[in-house]
Amino acid sequence: MQSLNQDRNTQSILRDSFGRQINYLRLAVTDRCNLTCRYCRPRNTGSPKAALLSYDELLRLVRVFASLGISKVRLTGGEPFARTGFIGLVKEISKISGINNVCITTNGTLCFDHIKELKKNGVSGLNFSLDTLSPERFRQITGADLFHEAFASIMEAVLQGIKVKVNVVVLDALNTDELLHLAGLAENLPIEVRFIEPMHFNGRKNFTTSTWTISSLARFFREKIPGCTEALSASPSTARLFTARNYQGRIGVIGGHSRTFCHTCNKVRVTPLGMMKTCLYDKEVLDLKKMLRAGYADQALVRAIHDTVQKKAASGTEAASGADATCSMALIGG
Ligand code: 5AD
Repeated sequence: MQSLNQDRNTQSILRDSFGRQINYLRLAVTDRCNLTCRYCRPRNTGSPKAALLSYDELLRLVRVFASLGISKVRLTGGEPFARTGFIGLVKEISKISGINNVCITTNGTLCFDHIKELKKNGVSGLNFSLDTLSPERFRQITGADLFHEAFASIMEAVLQGIKVKVNVVVLDALNTDELLHLAGLAENLPIEVRFIEPMHFNGRKNFTTSTWTISSLARFFREKIPGCTEALSASPSTARLFTARNYQGRIGVIGGHSRTFCHTCNKVRVTPLGMMKTCLYDKEVLDLKKMLRAGYADQALVRAIHDTVQKKAASGTEAASGADATCSMALIGG
């Protein structure tokens, strides 16, 4: 690994052909999830363990990506806490030289007891999926009666001083009457509540575009919440962010379907089965698992990742042609 870190000092940072610096890796550790959110996945048991990257393989990949200038890693799933031994992986990743920002996206239902430890191990951010404040609706949307578990984890993360974001997928006729209530979480808590346009990654053939778009969401919050104004973001952000009078936190809107933020994209992804993607919407573009298991050296991985990044599409719209429109977010990595 010494040679990789030495190279890091001499190597140029990872840039795509449009000049975007790529410094953010979203790494999915499992395709299993204890929830079956309607916008994400049908019921299934997940892939066999041998099909997933092992923890050693994941750590090796993170080191390789770090040598290419990746400094932020987000661990996702499926539900990452559904994989046995996940906390151990988090600890090891946060020790990797060059990785200075480790975040996790979770549904919050399995992690309450681990939050103190995550904080101790340098996890800087937790993104929670929470689409409703009603326990009964939570059950309808997710298929599980676990609202209180999810909500308690959010509160615990705030108490522990971890940076918290709450992701709300805006679902016609399911939670659109709760938008103000959900946004109100950011009034009393120092958190970011982000409203996401539904995308087609629901694991089914049927997908209907939402009647709510980021423009209508932005208009709605500006009209309904006193003093709500758009905040200029200093760093690349997928969300358009808003502050409001007397709000401790912020409100965000994410045009996942409109794809309005691609010009600032700084990410690549690795799916639970070890395929690299340079865009949520692209076809899987590099079989990292195959390379790892065929015994390729780190330098060959570095070269392959570098070359793959050069082919990153300008936008999700451009990337989408030819991609699987019935894929589940849990199979990509949320
Ligand atoms: N459309 C929009 N957002 C989705 N998420 C998962 N599936 C979808 C979808 N089909 C969101 C969840 C999760 C985040 C990583 O992605 O809110 O928190």
